[in-house]
Amino acid sequence: MIDKITVNLGKERSYPILVGCGNLGEVGEHTARLKQNVSGVFIVSSPRIYGLYGEPVAKSFKKAGFRHVGTGLFPDGERNKSLNSYSRVIAKLVEFASRSYGANGRGGIIIANLGGGVVGDLGGFVAATFNRGDSSARVDYIQIPTTLLGFVDCGVGGKVGVNFPRGKAVVKNLLGQFYQPRLVYADLDVLKTLPRRELKSGLAEVIKYGIIKDKLLFGYLEKHHRDILSLEPGALRHIVKKSYNIKARVVEQDEKDRKGIRAILNYGHTVGHAIEGANLHYKHGEAIAVGMVCAAEIARELGIFPQEGIKRIEELIKAVRLPVRAKDCRLSDILELLKRDKKVVNGVNRYVLPTEIGRVIVKQGVDNGIIRRVVRKRLE
Ligand SMILES: NC(=O)c1ccc[n+]([C@@H]2O[C@H](COP(=O)([O-])OP(=O)(O)OC[C@H]3O[C@@H](n4cnc5c(N)ncnc54)[C@H](O)[C@@H]3O)[C@@H](O)[C@H]2O)c1
Repeated sequence: MIDKITVNLGKERSYPILVGCGNLGEVGEHTARLKQNVSGVFIVSSPRIYGLYGEPVAKSFKKAGFRHVGTGLFPDGERNKSLNSYSRVIAKLVEFASRSYGANGRGGIIIANLGGGVVGDLGGFVAATFNRGDSSARVDYIQIPTTLLGFVDCGVGGKVGVNFPRGKAVVKNLLGQFYQPRLVYADLDVLKTLPRRELKSGLAEVIKYGIIKDKLLFGYLEKHHRDILSLEPGALRHIVKKSYNIKARVVEQDEKDRKGIRAILNYGHTVGHAIEGANLHYKHGEAIAVGMVCAAEIARELGIFPQEGIKRIEELIKAVRLPVRAKDCRLSDILELLKRDKKVVNGVNRYVLPTEIGRVIVKQGVDNGIIRRVVRKRLE
């Protein structure tokens, strides 16, 4: 059975999210229904993920009648979400387009991103910019996520891009665009090969959805986290669908992140991103887990969130074996990185803070003394 959730962005740009189990081999027929006159699929992936799932996916496209199927692979890892990998994939795409169509593939190609958030962001950026992006000759793309984070967060919403180096560090997503996919196609079975650490990292974003919008989802996670970690299909399907629904509704209201509505998706990400920057060994979800506890503690210090709520958040995070404290980070680095957070406007910070489980507000100008105290307590 395939479940369908629609991201409603008007007649031309709405798109379906299809969630199933063992349905990877049918991606071709669902893609073929999207657009006429498309006869080529260009799969963007990493050698590792393509090695695991490339063959059934490519076969499925051929079976569905796509005459040309090509690949643009680049190595795994955040540091490869770069302009170098972008150039490499574009070069392959140009070669594929001219081989198959004798030109730039005008209108005849669709890109399929097969992988986690790194592949999805880079492949989406390739689609957004190739042939001048959203023009009559644009190249559409679909997302076939293979990580839990890719399912519940990166695949949907149209934020695509690459990082750019600054000294020894990288500035995340410095180059990018909003460019919505035509389809998000999720097969929960692919999570069976996902390393456990990646699975838990993705779960942090699901916990986030519970805290910001859905106390029933949060309660479900409290009750069923063991089923989820053991990949019980019913439990996985439930949390993935709930997460997709929440993200889709938020994106619909504030597609380009201009109205402050999409900002709530950043719950836990302010301190979380600073932790990621201060200790590059942290996975995104691990840093966000600590960030979510910090935001809850800031809310309690401001008198808007009860201690009982912090206890529930902390216990759930610990139960899924995510950290509630950050190791090997210097307080001074984190405070410095917090000043550079994208939500800081004219030197005034903004924090997404819970008022109860399932509800958050965006608070401006939180006292830096409170932030310092809370973060210091959460460093090991
Ligand atoms: N566009 C958005 O809205 C959005 C939202 C959140 C995060 N992101 C981005 O997502 C990226 C992180 O994504 P991620 O956590 O998916 O990490 P990732 O894409 O780096 O994948 C993590 C690792 O898992 C491996 N892998 C992926 N699927 C697998 C599978 N099914 N089986 C075995 N191994 C598999 C990959 O090879 C990789 O080594 C970051 O760059 C972040 O900025 C984007």
